[in-house]
Amino acid sequence: METTLAIIKPDAYKDGNSGKIIDRIISEGFVIKEMKQIHMTKKIAEGFYEVHIDRPFYDELTDFMSSGNCVVLSLERDNAVSKWREVIGATNPEEASDGTIRALYGKNTGNNAVHGSDSPDNGIIESDYFFSEGN
Ligand code: CMP
Repeated sequence: METTLAIIKPDAYKDGNSGKIIDRIISEGFVIKEMKQIHMTKKIAEGFYEVHIDRPFYDELTDFMSSGNCVVLSLERDNAVSKWREVIGATNPEEASDGTIRALYGKNTGNNAVHGSDSPDNGIIESDYFFSEGN
């Protein structure tokens, strides 16, 4: 079993798509090990996306992620990281394959509905960030 972290971002939450995305998570065979609704502070968003600190979009990204409620989920299944990335589609919703979550619910590269970890190590690190470190 592998772990990945999923986040239903403020755009998808505000649009009322959380339930449909959670249904999809379950129907794709993931086990939800942890789940919570949070409104991140700017500082928590900055800590989560620290790897992107030097990118030009870091401030916009962390403003957006702290702009409203999110649902954060720690998911398990075999090949959880690659499977979740397949289900959510490309970062830019315009490039995401038909039927993927970002193609269905994302608006643009910033407001792209969901997050997914990019490696098994990061799946654990990111899940711990929200579920073991009190964030
Ligand atoms: P996510 O999977 O959460 O990981 C990093 C996020 O940075 C990514 O989704 C995008 O939402 C965001 N991102 C990447 N590139 C850009 C960009 N050029 N402009 C704004 N946000 C971006």
